[in-house]
Amino acid sequence: MSKTGIFYGSSNGTTEGIAKKIAAKLGVEQKDIHDVASAKVNDLDEYEVLLLGSSTWGIGDLQDDWESFIKVLSSANLSGKKVALFGCGDSSSYPDSFCDAVGKIYQVVKGVSTVIGFTSTEGYSFDASEAVVDHRFVGLILDEENERNLSEKRIEGWIAELKTEI
Ligand SMILES: Cc1cc2nc3c(=O)[nH]c(=O)nc-3n(C[C@H](O)[C@H](O)[C@H](O)COP(=O)(O)O)c2cc1C
Repeated sequence: MSKTGIFYGSSNGTTEGIAKKIAAKLGVEQKDIHDVASAKVNDLDEYEVLLLGSSTWGIGDLQDDWESFIKVLSSANLSGKKVALFGCGDSSSYPDSFCDAVGKIYQVVKGVSTVIGFTSTEGYSFDASEAVVDHRFVGLILDEENERNLSEKRIEGWIAELKTEI
């Protein structure tokens, strides 16, 4: 597997927990899991594959720490890297901005890296999401508030797909 780093932003620990779960399943070591609250551009440079995760806050906003890290990400040289995105949201309370943060990160990385790990929107219930492009989610989308029971299967499916690409 190519050298893989996981970068997450998480306010209440949900996305952090998912980042650790993904790491365990992919065999990514603890030192390669970065909280974007303290990560630097040099940290991004180290990896061939980046897994980037954010929850969504406000109405469709990036998680707080991502508000600054998105500028770091924009300044990084991502050419030649593969990028996979993941995020947590709440499709019941925020059906019009479901996991928008993942879509916002996608807008920064698309074109300058190879984005992998798109997923089907089938089985989700929401009205609008910036994380949907061409009828697919641009990454792994989880709703730990309402559909926690579906997360394991969703993560497993995504990881299986990623493993063929990294
Ligand atoms: C004030 C507030 C605003 C939120 N806004 C959104 C939103 O616009 N879209 C969404 O999908 N989820 C939204 N959520 C749900 C969170 O993204 C969800 O609880 C997530 O699991 C939190 O993950 P974290 O602990 O990693 O930050 C919001 C939650 C709160 C409390």
